[in-house]
Order: sequence, then C-alpha cells, then structure tokens
Amino acid sequence: MTMVRVDLRRQFEDAGSRADPSPVYAGLRDLGSVLRSKDILGGGFLLPRYEEVSQVIKDPRFASDRRNVGRRSLDQWWTPGMLRLLLSSMVLKDPPEHRRLRNLVQKAFTPCRVAKLAGRVEEITDELLDAAAAKPVIELVGDLALPLPLTVIAEMLGVPPADRIRFRTLFASIQSNSQTTAVSLARNYRRMRELTTFLQELVRLRRDQPGDDLLSDLVHVEEGGDRLDDDELISMVFLLLFAGHETTVNLIGNGVLELVRRPDQLRKLRDDPGLIDTAIEEMLRFINPVGFVAPRFAKEDVEIAGTPIRRGSMVTLLIASANLDETVFPDADTLDITRSPNRHVSFGLGTHFCLGAPLARLEARIAVPALLRRFDHLELAVPADQLPWRRHIALRGVERLPLVVTPAG
Ligand code: HEM
Repeated sequence: MTMVRVDLRRQFEDAGSRADPSPVYAGLRDLGSVLRSKDILGGGFLLPRYEEVSQVIKDPRFASDRRNVGRRSLDQWWTPGMLRLLLSSMVLKDPPEHRRLRNLVQKAFTPCRVAKLAGRVEEITDELLDAAAAKPVIELVGDLALPLPLTVIAEMLGVPPADRIRFRTLFASIQSNSQTTAVSLARNYRRMRELTTFLQELVRLRRDQPGDDLLSDLVHVEEGGDRLDDDELISMVFLLLFAGHETTVNLIGNGVLELVRRPDQLRKLRDDPGLIDTAIEEMLRFINPVGFVAPRFAKEDVEIAGTPIRRGSMVTLLIASANLDETVFPDADTLDITRSPNRHVSFGLGTHFCLGAPLARLEARIAVPALLRRFDHLELAVPADQLPWRRHIALRGVERLPLVVTPAG
C-alpha cells in the first residue's frame, strides 16, 4: 500500500496557515487516518483524525521514551539546551519512572490545591489590568496573557520577589520561535545557560532556606527513600515552566482574539458570565495552543486503522487536528462557547494527561471575565490578517494582540 507523505513543517510555512491552520488539518484528515511524515520530526507516521489520536495517546503499546524501543537517546553534546533539559523530564519518560517523577509534583497541581490560588491569580490579574487600563490601546499578550502565568508559576516555585523581573525577562527571552540562524541559536544557547544558572542558584537557596513553595517541597521531598537529584530537579522546574507557560499564554491570547473577532459570542459571554466554563473548554478545542504531543514510539508491531506499524516506529499525534474533526465535533470550524459535550484532547489523555490543566483553566477563567468586566468594548487595533503569529511548529500563538478598549463606565 502506498501512503501519502506529508511534510508538516512545509504545511505551516506561510503566515496564513499559522493564523488559521484548520484548512491544513482538514486536508490532512481527508488524506487518511495514517499518513507518512517526512520532515524534521524524523519521519514516521502522522495521525490527523480524532479516533486514532485518542486511542494511541492512551495505548500502553506506545512509549514516550525512545530508549524503551531501542532508539538512541537524543542526549548528545549537540542537543539544544532546551531539549536536553526536557529529555530527563517526565513528559519523555514511561512508567514506572514516569510515575515516580509525576508523584513528586502531582499534589501541588490537584484541582483542590490549585483552587486555593484563585485569590492570588485574581490579584495579579487586577494589577496587570490596572497598569494596562491607563492606555487607550492595550497589547493583550504583553499586558496580560504573558505576565499572568509567568508570575503565577514564579510565585508557586518560590522565586524571591526581588528576582522576579530578572526571571521573567530571562524566560520570556527564550520563547521558542523556530529559530534556526547561527546567531539566534547562539543567543538562545546563552540565554538557556543563564536560565539554568538562575535555576541552580534558586535550588541552592531553597535547599538552605526552605520556604512555603513548590521548589522547597521538591528539594526536600523524599518518597520511600527516593529523592530528585539536581539534574532531575532542574529538569522538572524547566518542564513546569516550559509546558505551562507558552501554552497558557496562547490560550488567553488566542482565546481573546477569537472572541473579539466574533461579537455574537463575546456578547453571549457578557450577557451570561456563567458560560465561562464551556467557553474556556471551547477555546481550548478551537484555538489549539498545542499542535501535537511528544512523539510516541511503537514498543511492538501494531496496527493502526489497518496500517501495520513496525516496532520502534515514531508516531506523531496531531491533537490540534483531532480537535477539529467533524466526525466528533459538529460544526467543528465554528467557535460555540456553549458547546457541550466537548471531548477535546488539548490537554492530552491517559498517563501524560496535562498535569497543569487545573491551573491553566483557573488562570483563563479568571483572566477572561476580568478583562470583560474591565472594558465595555474591545476591538482589534489592526486588521486580523496583520497580526503576527509565532513561527513555531508545535505551538500556536498570536505574538502581539493590540486592542482598542473602552473602560467600563
Ligand atoms: C503535559 C497541554 C498548561 C504542565 C501536557 C500535554 C499536553 C499539554 C497536550 C500532554 C503531553 C503528551 O502527552 O506528550 C497543555 C495546554 C496548556 C497546558 C494546552 C494550557 C492551555 C500547563 C500548565 C502546566 C503544565 C499550566 C504546569 C504549570 C504539564 C506537565 C506535563 C504536561 C508537567 C507532563 C505530564 C506528564 O508527562 O505526565 N500539557 N498544558 N501544563 N503539562 Fe500541560
């Protein structure tokens, strides 16, 4: 059987596809359930439809750790710093190692623990909106979507107040646009080293002076005589920053953009603030902050939708495309803030289901209504087709979102 080969990176080269990827995904779903991938993802297979994505993502016959199917580790001297740090994190591990790492942080992210942060998330949101409201045009990403999750995670980790600006500047400067020039790679490398040094100093500080924060817990946690070594600790912190930051920025930034572009949906939410929960779930489905999850590797010969997949093969699961699959979501290309049920897979499923989902939901369900309460009117300050989008193959985010606003009277 010949199978269609797809170069995913090519598909998103033009700005139009980054701004609206749904035609690309629809085209991929039309091509079939299992496609061959030929691009930087390293070949293998691509799954664009909901059914196969939602099955394989939970299927224990697939590994997240490539070493468990006999592939060589990516941890080489030339591996970019960001990837190297992620390699020893739970997202690229399989049970039982995965469970051990996840258990150590799990309790900080239960819905109950996260709900206790609500008051502080509201305060930070209000402070950011106070500063933004003084201007006739706000820039939603820089003014709210970006600093909110970063401040929250910095506080959770116990970054001392005096270091927060440095931390924010450092981390924000590494935001990953698929940068490939020698100069940008060198710059990114330098910043990664600075961030790693910063985190190492923070670990040292919390070892000597424990506080009431997540990092202090992680430094001192012991489970059955087991504890995190320094590399695992840095890698864990980095995962929390990396996995939890840009994704939430994109949820709030892209989500507000889609609302502003659809006055009927915006009006509905203003008229009935009780719709916020279904609205956030629909934003997660529709705006797709994450295009695909970490690749999976077949641990044995398997079949997906009748296609034989050999042991060791790499499979890329396009969760963003699955979320737009008409066979599961009627009118999938329409944003409907009342949609229910909404079985989107934006947070993944199964073993690696997003640890930070309760936190991301909390931040969005506080930030979006606060924005609507603060301003009676919100309107794009530039035509939608001139908005800049991040050049990133896996994450989808508007880079700047200028809005003309009318403060509530
Ligand atoms: C895992 C999406 C926010 C921490 C994941 C996965 C997805 C995802 C799809 C599964 C990866 C896989 O199966 O390979 C998102 C989205 C977010 C978000 C769309 C925001 C809208 C957060 C936040 C945090 C976080 C706020 C923490 C501060 C994690 C961690 C994992 C993860 C630690 C790995 C879990 C594991 O491997 O067991 N996320 N995430 N995420 N996410 Fe999130």
